[in-house]
Amino acid sequence: MSEQLTTFSFNNKNHETALQILKRYPEARKQSAVMPLLDLAQRQNDNWLSRDVVEYVANYLEMPFIRVWEVVTFYSMYYTKYNGKYLVQVCGTTPCWLRGSDQVAKACKEMISPEQNTLSKDGLFSWMQVECLGACVNAPLVQINDDYYEDLTYDTTVNILQSLIDGKKIEVGSQSGRKSSKAVS
Ligand code: FES
Repeated sequence: MSEQLTTFSFNNKNHETALQILKRYPEARKQSAVMPLLDLAQRQNDNWLSRDVVEYVANYLEMPFIRVWEVVTFYSMYYTKYNGKYLVQVCGTTPCWLRGSDQVAKACKEMISPEQNTLSKDGLFSWMQVECLGACVNAPLVQINDDYYEDLTYDTTVNILQSLIDGKKIEVGSQSGRKSSKAVS
């Protein structure tokens, strides 16, 4: 690792994890670890990548900053601004749209912010519309941080957001009562 110029650094646990990730690649190809290390850094940094954090990863892998920044700005799973404790990604692609994703987005507009990519007043959430999340069989759905909530309606979306506000536990997956993606009887 070259001289560190940033304020961010991996905590002890993540430093160990980063070393394990680096072992997957030959020393001369350690830059191949850029994506998992960005993910690790993002998770440590409240789910976003400030310039400091990207500089840290670039230094860690001895890469030019711009090459790491290109990766960060190309892939949709890296965030260059703080999105609150919960980032709600609403799928708006055709299967979800046909099954009512407009109602899911309506709940987000009312409970989070009328505009996408805007922090809620309490700073807890932001939401954005995204393309297919790959779980169309349980459309419509949202991804909140790492979890999927499926078979949504306006009411179940409101319930999920309110439960997060209240700190209540919510089951991930289908919210309609069906098991996994079994056919609705
Ligand atoms: S269209 Fe929404 S998950 Fe595929």
